[in-house]
Amino acid sequence: MKAWKIASFGLENLELATLPDPKPERGEVLIRVHAVSLNFRDLMIVLGKYNPRMHLPRIPCSDGAGEVVAVGEGVTRVAPGNRVAGIFMQNWIDGEPDAQKTRGALGGDIDGMLAEYVVLREEGVVRLPDHLSMQEAATLPCAAVTAWNAIVRAGRVKPGDVVLTQGTGGVSIFALQFAKMLGARVLGMSGSDEKLARARQLGLDAGVNYRNTPEWDTWVMDQTGGRGADLVVEVGGAGTFSRSLRSLRIGGTVAQIGVLTQSPDAVEIPLLLHRQVHLRGIYVGSRADFEHMNRAIAQAMLKPVLDEAFSLRRAPDALRKMQNASHFGKVPILLND
Ligand SMILES: NC(=O)c1ccc[n+]([C@@H]2O[C@H](COP(=O)([O-])OP(=O)(O)OC[C@H]3O[C@@H](n4cnc5c(N)ncnc54)[C@H](OP(=O)(O)O)[C@@H]3O)[C@@H](O)[C@H]2O)c1
Repeated sequence: MKAWKIASFGLENLELATLPDPKPERGEVLIRVHAVSLNFRDLMIVLGKYNPRMHLPRIPCSDGAGEVVAVGEGVTRVAPGNRVAGIFMQNWIDGEPDAQKTRGALGGDIDGMLAEYVVLREEGVVRLPDHLSMQEAATLPCAAVTAWNAIVRAGRVKPGDVVLTQGTGGVSIFALQFAKMLGARVLGMSGSDEKLARARQLGLDAGVNYRNTPEWDTWVMDQTGGRGADLVVEVGGAGTFSRSLRSLRIGGTVAQIGVLTQSPDAVEIPLLLHRQVHLRGIYVGSRADFEHMNRAIAQAMLKPVLDEAFSLRRAPDALRKMQNASHFGKVPILLND
């Protein structure tokens, strides 16, 4: 089979290798991967910025969807012909996270999905919503589950709440879709007016360009009559965190997800106290979260937002597109072209 390998760090060092087809052992399933989708993490891993001590070679990418083509002895959860995706952390099935559950992330701790065939334990897969194509379903394991946990678990979003999203990448567009599904008012920011216009078509209520309006926290306060947002879906990291706090209502929540930007400035700790902020770190979620989200996606017939698709051979170009932040929503890679 063909698979991309990180031989050494750097986009130019990715290798399209021919490897033996894997075989499922007891309790395992063999998946023919149809589509993969990229996350910012995949790019950071390939560049060596996520975990510079990661053991190499490694097959990258956490998110993929495909068809079960064979199962090992004793497998009961799925059967050949089922459409499945791998769960991000292969050991986090349910309940609260702990050190053991949060090991085993695809495309990081263990080999990932950027391969024609993948073997996973039967516990490490979920069935796909019927209305989604393989490339749509391939977007779900990381970005969608993360956004789901930010909106539903951390934010407990209700109709009429105000949610602030940052940028128009994978996590933020899912957050917009889930927040609208729950009846929230969504304010968004982007570095591109054109992307804001596209987000408006998905239901974004109002948008601001953070390049033209670096004081976007003031804009959020203006938009909310001085009250502030109930939830900030924080993907910016150090460079946006203090303004995110300034954008919140008293008693509001920050779902801390991303690390896109740096800052030499210290976090304004007094803001946390004075605004009585609920701060929740999110690291994707469990299989139970994924399954709950899939039920909601199926009920709402929600469709993930896809950007240009790339062939397996062009996977490095797909990663470059993400590096340039020229994408909107998710970037798919198709394996059966
Ligand atoms: N904790 C977790 O479990 C988890 C899970 C998934 C992702 N993440 C993290 O979340 C972040 C986003 O991931 P992703 O996969 O959604 O990335 P992505 O698809 O690459 O999207 C990133 C987008 O963020 C926007 N952006 C860049 N700089 C910004 C800034 N200064 N202020 C506001 N927005 C900015 C850009 O959108 P515009 O072009 O519209 O400005 C960019 O396209 C990354 O740091 C990633 O590592 C964490």
